[in-house]
Amino acid sequence: MKNSFRPAWLITTGFLFFGCNNLQAEGKINGRWYTQSQVDTGKMLFDKNCSECHGENARGTSDWRKPLADGSYPAPPLNGSAHTWHHPMKALMRTIHFGGVPLGGTMPAFKDKLPNKEKLAVIAFFQSLWSGEIYAAWLERGGLK
Ligand code: HEC
Repeated sequence: MKNSFRPAWLITTGFLFFGCNNLQAEGKINGRWYTQSQVDTGKMLFDKNCSECHGENARGTSDWRKPLADGSYPAPPLNGSAHTWHHPMKALMRTIHFGGVPLGGTMPAFKDKLPNKEKLAVIAFFQSLWSGEIYAAWLERGGLK
């Protein structure tokens, strides 16, 4: 075989390489950092721990911008319709870990209730409710940094 540089070989290699990349991303929802199974676990945990304040499917309440009688704020929606996408992953984890009290809010801390793996699953769940546009804006702001 004189000419070993054959296009067919290149194409095959290309497919193999592409296949490996696909394998690496296996289970991840298209373009997102999490898997469907994290979302499913997260939904269960959210319904149990968060929905009483943040509403079903993280919808919040319609007047979450209005302070309550004691001056504190109601739980905002986490479904992409409020500001949650302004916060990078580390800040989201911190809020869930320590709650809002250190910042003058009322959200309880989950540091003793949810291990980090479960906190991540809850984040995966509410981020699964974000549109592609909101998720892209979050990434753009350094969401995963
Ligand atoms: C007792 C009510 C309550 C529960 C339960 C609760 N939260 Fe909150 N959450 C709040 C309130 C109120 C705020 C607004 C900040 C504050 O007052 O602490 C908030 C803020 C947040 C924020 C910041 C949102 C933003 O846009 O800045 C995140 C993220 C969050 N909560 C996630 C969760 C998750 C996840 C759970 C369940 C594991 C949860 N919360 C459970 C009341 C609650």
